[in-house]
Amino acid sequence: MVSLASFGFMLPGSTPERILVVGGGGRENALAWALARCQGVEQVWVAPGNGGTPDLAGCTQLPIAETDQAALVQACHDQAVELVVVGPEAPLAAGLADTLRAAGLAVFGPGADGAQLEASKQWAKALMEDAGIATAGYWHAESLEQALAVVEAQAQPLVVKADGLAAGKGVTVAGTIAETRAALEEVFSGRFGAAGASVVLEETLNGPEVSVFALSDGQRLVLLPPAQDHKRIGEGDTGANTGGMGAYAPAPLLDAAGLDQVLHGVLEPALAALRARGIDYRGVIYAGLMLTEAGPKVIEFNCRFGDPECETLMPLLGPELAAVLLACAQGCLDAAPPLSIAAQCSACVIAAAEGYPGTVRQGDPISASLSAGDGMQLFHAGSRRDAGGRCLTAGGRVLAVVAQASTFDTAFARAYDGLAQVHFEGITYRRDIGHQVRSR
Ligand code: AMP
Ligand code: GLY
Repeated sequence: MVSLASFGFMLPGSTPERILVVGGGGRENALAWALARCQGVEQVWVAPGNGGTPDLAGCTQLPIAETDQAALVQACHDQAVELVVVGPEAPLAAGLADTLRAAGLAVFGPGADGAQLEASKQWAKALMEDAGIATAGYWHAESLEQALAVVEAQAQPLVVKADGLAAGKGVTVAGTIAETRAALEEVFSGRFGAAGASVVLEETLNGPEVSVFALSDGQRLVLLPPAQDHKRIGEGDTGANTGGMGAYAPAPLLDAAGLDQVLHGVLEPALAALRARGIDYRGVIYAGLMLTEAGPKVIEFNCRFGDPECETLMPLLGPELAAVLLACAQGCLDAAPPLSIAAQCSACVIAAAEGYPGTVRQGDPISASLSAGDGMQLFHAGSRRDAGGRCLTAGGRVLAVVAQASTFDTAFARAYDGLAQVHFEGITYRRDIGHQVRSR
């Protein structure tokens, strides 16, 4: 028998008892942990999860790939799931939320139409233009010849972005015109498949970067504290780009007035422009901003939480989170309890496998003796269990240690103390995460 709940008959503002989180990264580990802690939540399933999922109280791992839409729908009906939270961008862009909604489920995460915010840079640029959102000037080109003509006419190095999803590898911030040309040749060589069928060329902006996240129910927004991540592999923010080597929140770069400016100048206009396109956007709007001398400008929009920003933010959010995400999914944020946010500093450091962001060592046993508890969390990302239940490394970013305290100095000291209790062969991490907000 299928319960009423699986057809969406949840009272507005209520807490879902049974939740499915889709995804297998550190972000989904943190989401599952945070949701399972919410009062009234009985069970959280995570598909496919990772090596850390079995350690999360109240969470059960389901061996279903995020691409297997039919199996995910079936699992939701079998378990009478009342809310599905989709973590990564790829299944959102592939229409997973649409499929789940068509099956009568409440979903936190936009449909394929809204996911274009991230899945097509050209589409996002056009939306920003229509909405009057400050962003880098840009050109769209559908062939190498067209793109080279833009470079010729501009006679300056430009940022090159493959139009589609390229797992964070489709962007080159060229320092010279020759690098701009080389990046264009790479995109049009087919390296990024369909994602590189066209490019966006952008003027180069300068300034510190900050990530702002808002939870949307299609009409209204709940703002989360701004976060800053460290994208480069090397200390001093040098070397190759990664998915993110650590993060902290709230980022003092954006004070309350700055955040207000982003809310009114970026997020609300973006949501209005989505609505004007007939898109009922229920999920995260993630604005990657550069704080330029001329004010905040959007570098990119994403349709999901950042990783590791999510691991950093989740411990700051109150037990209303599950009700708030369900209210977003139902389009009734006004009925949800206000989301409480701890006035603390949160520090997150990623432990990666040797070789990251290139080819990494895998299959090494992970041991962790830190006592996660109040103010300290260990979230797994690239890890898996072997047949005997041992936890092994299985990806680039292996895990995140996160700590909260009243100052960033204390929070980072605790995160690094925790990290010292984590061992696997080839463990690689930056010792300077949060250098902007630490005095030591
Ligand atoms: P993305 O994959 O869109 O997040 O871009 C990766 C990184 O490239 C961003 O985090 C920025 O550091 C950089 N970037 C993207 N666009 C620009 C731009 N127009 N000017 C300067 N840097 C940029
Ligand atoms: N940490 C950046 C991202 O998730 O895109």
